[in-house]
Amino acid sequence: MITLAIETSCDETSAAVLDNDRILSNIISSQLYHSKYGGVVPEVASREHLKKIVDITEEALINANKSLKDIDLFSATSEPGLIGALLVGLNFTKSLAVSSDKPFIPVNHVQSHLYSGFLSGQKKEFPFLGLIISGGHTLLVLVEDFFIHKILGGTIDDAAGEAYDKVAKMLGIGYPGGKIIDENSVKGNKDFHKFPVAKLKGNEFDFSFSGIKTSVLYFLKKIGFEENRNDKLVYDICASFQEAMIKTLYEKTMDAAIKYKVKSISVSGGVSANSGLRARFNIQKEKGYEIWFPEFEYSTDNAAMIGLTGYYKYMFSKNKNYFLTESLNQIAKPRLDYENF
Ligand code: KG4
Ligand code: ZN
Repeated sequence: MITLAIETSCDETSAAVLDNDRILSNIISSQLYHSKYGGVVPEVASREHLKKIVDITEEALINANKSLKDIDLFSATSEPGLIGALLVGLNFTKSLAVSSDKPFIPVNHVQSHLYSGFLSGQKKEFPFLGLIISGGHTLLVLVEDFFIHKILGGTIDDAAGEAYDKVAKMLGIGYPGGKIIDENSVKGNKDFHKFPVAKLKGNEFDFSFSGIKTSVLYFLKKIGFEENRNDKLVYDICASFQEAMIKTLYEKTMDAAIKYKVKSISVSGGVSANSGLRARFNIQKEKGYEIWFPEFEYSTDNAAMIGLTGYYKYMFSKNKNYFLTESLNQIAKPRLDYENF
């Protein structure tokens, strides 16, 4: 089964070709204009997708050594995301599907991050705990089987990546800020300042990041950051902020793993590229936990994860009784409640 997948939910125009669950090509073009504006401008993002989508798709087909007539299944991100940006990819891909007389499968972007850990032949056993941390979403999910998701918690305000991007903006170090803060943190002292980790009254597995962000803002004012700015100060603030972020993400996830008696944890989404977070979770490997991250290329937005999730959804809905693929090496019972997430 050859799948062509397109991702245009935010500021990456991406196309991928998969042979069953194996990636043949994955082309990602990141829009660079937004460092000028300090964020993504929806209208500009849509126009950039329009300019690039045909070339990116052709490149993905050429790299996979396939042509349109080889494609058996078309898939694109349908939600969530910037509506104009989504429409570009959705309509383009649906048109290809209709003109080729082949099926089209819409894919939830956040769900595809969850399954991105399955790319490159990584682990595929259930149950596992999925921490999805991106620029727009933060979710902790118990995954009992393919598309059997129990959402344990999510953010009540900013997403994890959003907090990184906003703090980077306050520090004037660029956009998107997660990668830059991560690189600066390595050079800084994480004990320089203790930024508070939110304690929430409601659901114990919900997250809140606006408090950390606001405390960084007050701290910068208190120390006269602009007047006293120097590289070491920036590194120390980045390291201290990153420590607070890692602490809350790591501790809540481990609490959930203990409560639900799950020994397998997947961390995905753009923030899962974070080196400090990876190191902290990996410590648990010594305690018998299985910890898995997507490869760096598949942590941030990409069409390969859309293609993989589209392929799973298609196989799942097509075979009413059983769903088996060689590389999955297992049979999953079909259930149809995946539309909820
Ligand atoms: O998943 P993604 O590419 O897009 C969304 O679905 O939102 O995630 C983008 C987010 C941005 O907020 C970016 O700052 C963050 O991922 N990010 C990181 C790192 N690399 C990207 N955050 C922390 N550390 C990183 N190394
Ligand atoms: Zn994403």
